[in-house]
Amino acid sequence: MVVGSGAREHALGWKISKSPLIRDIIFVPGNPGMAEIGECMSANPQGVSEVARIAKEKRVDLTVVGPEAPLMAGIVDELEASGLKVFGPTSSAAKIEGSKSFAKDLMLRNGVPTGSAKVFEDFEEARAHIETLKHPFVIKADGLAAGKGVMIVLDFRSGIEALKKCLVDGVFGDAGKKVLVEEYLEGNEVSILSLSDGKSLAHMEASQDHKRAFDNDKGPNTGGMGAYSPVPFLSSETEKHIHTEIMEKTVEAMRLEGVPYKGVLYGGLILTVDGPKVLEFNVRFGDPETQVVLPRLRSDLVPGLLATVDGTIGEYGTEWSSECCVCVVVASGGYPGKYETGLPIKGLKAASADSKVEIFHAGTKKTDGKLVTAGGRVLNVVALGDDFRDAVGLAYESVQMLSFEGMHYRRDIGKRAIEALEGV
Ligand code: GLY
Repeated sequence: MVVGSGAREHALGWKISKSPLIRDIIFVPGNPGMAEIGECMSANPQGVSEVARIAKEKRVDLTVVGPEAPLMAGIVDELEASGLKVFGPTSSAAKIEGSKSFAKDLMLRNGVPTGSAKVFEDFEEARAHIETLKHPFVIKADGLAAGKGVMIVLDFRSGIEALKKCLVDGVFGDAGKKVLVEEYLEGNEVSILSLSDGKSLAHMEASQDHKRAFDNDKGPNTGGMGAYSPVPFLSSETEKHIHTEIMEKTVEAMRLEGVPYKGVLYGGLILTVDGPKVLEFNVRFGDPETQVVLPRLRSDLVPGLLATVDGTIGEYGTEWSSECCVCVVVASGGYPGKYETGLPIKGLKAASADSKVEIFHAGTKKTDGKLVTAGGRVLNVVALGDDFRDAVGLAYESVQMLSFEGMHYRRDIGKRAIEALEGV
């Protein structure tokens, strides 16, 4: 059973469905793309007991949880208590994403490289502190704030506004009662996904997300407008350093502190001039990073998921395709701001005809048997190629066959990878 309804969960289901170990997949609640590979059951993915009831009734052998919210709400704790196998961290371990101050403190105490930061609950104390800082710096709400809790501060005035928003006006509710005032890290961003059984890890190959809405990293932050893998400017030496000094060290620190981390640990990293540093940890697969990492994974994912749960991840070996993978997110006009839904989507069959292309559904639904838009990010077009030029070319050829009113997408996904390889 896969819990979630976005392109990440579609990609997970797609990869899982290729395993000879799998007979049936249930998606809760799923989407029309997932309905083509399994059964979709409508339930609120955050309704922990509802999901547990379905898992019991359907005698599910393994549950994989996509989004962070059900993990924080204790879905793993609930399913484990019912004797069911579930992939993901307990709600206590999920704190590494759910509380930025917990994560920062853990990293600083254990020598995991990250930006320096101070934690505040009092507005006046925070204000006095930012008066001493040089710009830019970052103000982060401690808890989950629907992707809006990170504010890059370019002048004192906007710093005060960000602090007020969290500590005085309570715009983020409990999530913003505490803030971190953090060093701004400069450099290229890289995402690493590692499967952890609490002691050992199996690392996935690196990827890069494109978070801004428009080309050349302009415009507001989004849930991710595209991604690519591998990352040509990440040397194998630096990648190894990230595995040992960041991902493995963090899992070991969690184990020693009595909150063993099981599941996928997502490291959002910045390659600074002083080496890689952690920007944030997430407790789930990256979206859209998963959509470019899994198509390159030659190994069966299911034994890796089971080994994570069973404590034997050290025995899981990953084999990777040398192909390059690119994902272009096709979004509704206006996203990440206001957008219309219910708009008919055309061209899906032609766009996915090439065997090197997969289209993962994000915000879609069926109305009167027709596929229509149902969210900000609508479809993810994923293409594999022998090199980045091939993969990018194929992805955009496919994107151009799709249409719905107002459709928008970035036209520069993968450009940085091509530039790095061609020395531009
Ligand atoms: N790609 C960003 C995230 O999954 O949080």
